[in-house]
Amino acid sequence: MFARKSIAQVQRETANSELKRTLGKWNLLLLGIGCIIGAGIFVRTGSAAALHAGPAVLLSFVVAGIVCAFAGLCYAELSSTLPVSGSAYTYGYTTLGEFIAWVMGVLLLLEYGIAASVVAVGWAGYVVSLLGDFGIHIPAQFTGPAGHLLMKDGAPVLVDGATVTTIFNLPAFLICIALALLLVIGVSESAKVNNVIVAIKVSVLTAFIVVGGLIVLSKFGELSAAHWVPFIPENQGDGKFGVDGIMRAASIVFFAYIGFEAVSTAGQEAKDPGKDMPFGIIGSLVVCTVIYMLVAAIMTLLVPYASLNVPDPVAVVVDSFGEQWAWLAKTIKIGAIIGLTSVVLVLMYAQTRIFYTMARDGLLPKVFSTVHPKFKTPWVNTLVVGLLTAVAAGFFDINVLGDMTSVGTLAAFAIVCLSVIYLRRSAPELPRGFKVPFYPVTPILGILSCVYLITTVPVSVLMFFLWYMLGGIVLYFVYGIWNSNLQKGEDQDDQPDMGEYVAPVGEQP
Ligand code: ALA
Repeated sequence: MFARKSIAQVQRETANSELKRTLGKWNLLLLGIGCIIGAGIFVRTGSAAALHAGPAVLLSFVVAGIVCAFAGLCYAELSSTLPVSGSAYTYGYTTLGEFIAWVMGVLLLLEYGIAASVVAVGWAGYVVSLLGDFGIHIPAQFTGPAGHLLMKDGAPVLVDGATVTTIFNLPAFLICIALALLLVIGVSESAKVNNVIVAIKVSVLTAFIVVGGLIVLSKFGELSAAHWVPFIPENQGDGKFGVDGIMRAASIVFFAYIGFEAVSTAGQEAKDPGKDMPFGIIGSLVVCTVIYMLVAAIMTLLVPYASLNVPDPVAVVVDSFGEQWAWLAKTIKIGAIIGLTSVVLVLMYAQTRIFYTMARDGLLPKVFSTVHPKFKTPWVNTLVVGLLTAVAAGFFDINVLGDMTSVGTLAAFAIVCLSVIYLRRSAPELPRGFKVPFYPVTPILGILSCVYLITTVPVSVLMFFLWYMLGGIVLYFVYGIWNSNLQKGEDQDDQPDMGEYVAPVGEQP
């Protein structure tokens, strides 16, 4: 359980994938923003404001951003210390041992696999809405999770006098399957595509901020009196409003920041990791926090926050701009759909590479590392990931899926912070390109703040999470521990190195 991979071993295993140091600090910043902006701001901010924080969701973004900054600095230190290109799974394997690496693998399935489902559901929300603008209506039963009473403005939707209970989210299911098939034939993002998509996402949000901001400025007094008083609605218990609500909403909008760790995983490709990594990580967090707060401010100023609990809150707010801006609502929806598609793709890609690496380590069955002879991709693995994410997206509620992602990721971040402390003690002599400032305060605050945010999610989600972890841990003792290459004294299986983590800025290895 405590067997660790030596740094020399990990270096040997990655020796055949020498990466070039080509990324400057601005590339890293863009890489971060590219992975970060997605369903968090386009979708989940709406329910966070409507159900938990009201206008004070702005403060939730600050809280979540600070938690991510602690973890981000720890990621930066690990990636500049351990000369491996990899995810938190590899960091776990080289520091705290195989069992923790396995636990990381189980958590990363939430951070990437289930996150992909969340973004797919967000994608479906915008697609259904855009198609509706063009008069194409997907039957309402097929636009939501199993067994949900469809609501609009707080009331059940009536169709011919009958309420509608959703059966299945067809568009969300289909996008997962379609993207898995694309990944099987080897479509991955290149630097140029990534930059174009980042530009589209940032442009639509900027357009929203500029136009919405001008409208807000023209009647700020009136709007703030109508929608921002009180700024922190009174606490109703159960994480609804008040300071508790702000913290609960922080665990929801935390989702909006996931992805910044992708910057740290490019540690091997940074020109000057000591300076460029913290710039990329903290810079992308700061840029996104500013964008998120502006978007959230405009959303909560222009419409009553209670009306934001919809699948496409940004579009709903644009609708309030007035008739002359109808074209902007459509443009924003299209921009959101393109942006969200790329986030689902990147998250699914990351998930397949984690399974792939675990299979090469013997911790998962070999079929997960089988590479297709023609396409050179881990095809069975990709199809399994596609099916898993599709079923989750098709049948489960976005709020439950999002909470599971937040909890899993927060737990993974806490372990990363712990790894920094462990490595400082066990291997103080290792050269560190970047060191977390104010050690050990920063990693300790990182651990405490992650654990605190975990405690703000509903008990039902925590129970689900505990059962999930228990199931994962049982699997380790039933399968992983008996099949691990490390336990047998072997290196990873000799297979083409496909890269362990998503590398959206480079070509697919
Ligand atoms: N941060 C990413 C999003 O909001 C996962 O979609």
